[in-house]
Amino acid sequence: MIRARIAGIGMYVPKNVVTNNDLTRVMDTSDEWIQERTGIKERRFATPFEDTTTTMGVEAARIAMQRAGVGTSEIDFIIFSTLSPDYYFPGCGVLAQRALGMTEIGALDIRNQCSGFIYGLSVADQFIKTGMYKNILLIASETHSYGLDFSTRGRNVSVIFGDGAGAVLLQPCTESSETSLNGPTKGSEPRGILSTHLHSDGSHAELLSMMNPGFHVGKFAPEKKPAKPDQPYGGLFITKDLVEKEDIYPYMDGQSVFKKAIVKFPEVILEALKTNNLHISDLNLLIPHQANLRISQMLQHQLKLRDDQVYNNIQKYGNTTAASIPIALCEAWENGKVKENDLICLAAFGSGFTWASALIRW
Ligand code: ACO
Repeated sequence: MIRARIAGIGMYVPKNVVTNNDLTRVMDTSDEWIQERTGIKERRFATPFEDTTTTMGVEAARIAMQRAGVGTSEIDFIIFSTLSPDYYFPGCGVLAQRALGMTEIGALDIRNQCSGFIYGLSVADQFIKTGMYKNILLIASETHSYGLDFSTRGRNVSVIFGDGAGAVLLQPCTESSETSLNGPTKGSEPRGILSTHLHSDGSHAELLSMMNPGFHVGKFAPEKKPAKPDQPYGGLFITKDLVEKEDIYPYMDGQSVFKKAIVKFPEVILEALKTNNLHISDLNLLIPHQANLRISQMLQHQLKLRDDQVYNNIQKYGNTTAASIPIALCEAWENGKVKENDLICLAAFGSGFTWASALIRW
């Protein structure tokens, strides 16, 4: 059976480190509050006019391709996951294709927020299993800092998020005959992506959302209805009224997100293990989406995982939504925490709500 495997992985975080104390200069918050509620100590912010979601994603992609020993001309397909694209349209997929000087391959953009990387991984997995593509570049990148509300009004959201990118190069492998990212493989254990599990529940879509600018014209949230324009057509996407009211920032009902996350995270992890007849004790490493350290700790406690079975790095990077899992996976791999034959579980929960998991035999 053909499976997809991660043949190369890379990450890129911008150089600008922003500490909690730095944020206290622009809003009413404190290092103590942020660390206690989220575990975050610092995050990276992109450099305006230099970094974009695409440029950071491309940096991560170059490293992933180089580690896989694959050139740009060999890539068959690009998948790009982000909630902070450079343009409203076209998506970052084609911008990455252009920046990497690739041939006229397909480029797919994914809009699944925190679950975006795993959704992308699942799509890539299907294309590889059917034999349609051999080298798929999956990029996840976010530039939150350009669009958050850094006044005290927006502090419950803006202290959480950071910028950065991760990328993987996916290739087919057959059971035990291929080489892994760590060298030649041994044994006959099934390798690569064992399964992926995708879920959503749109009944809470607005609880973690950025609705404006948008084309909804208040349909689902009457309080967001834009003022009637003084022209017969158009004038509803970005209005003066929205800008004046500063109704252009992400909204999060943090407690509702938290409550749902701590139910859905364990559920989707256990689903992945059950599908493969595996158990929590078989898991070498869980990489949860870095939403909030308290969520990861609660999850670890619920599943009775040891410290060495869970990887967290939100302390350094904040929540980088779609990019958080590939950044954490890349860092864990670089630090020798992901070894050949290890069983790795990736799990995400976020805006939508959407949630997902992937089980990988490295
Ligand atoms: N600094 C200081 N005080 C703050 C801050 C801040 N940055 N933010 C909020 N507060 C205040 C509030 O104003 C409130 O004050 P009040 O009691 O005087 O009204 C108080 O702190 C408590 O506010 P809550 O919002 O109730 O705080 P909570 O304990 O819920 O923590 C948090 C907020 C950290 C957002 C938490 O709800 C959480 O982590 N939720 C999960 C959110 C999450 O993980 N989102 C990301 C996942 S999805 C994704 O990645 C897109």
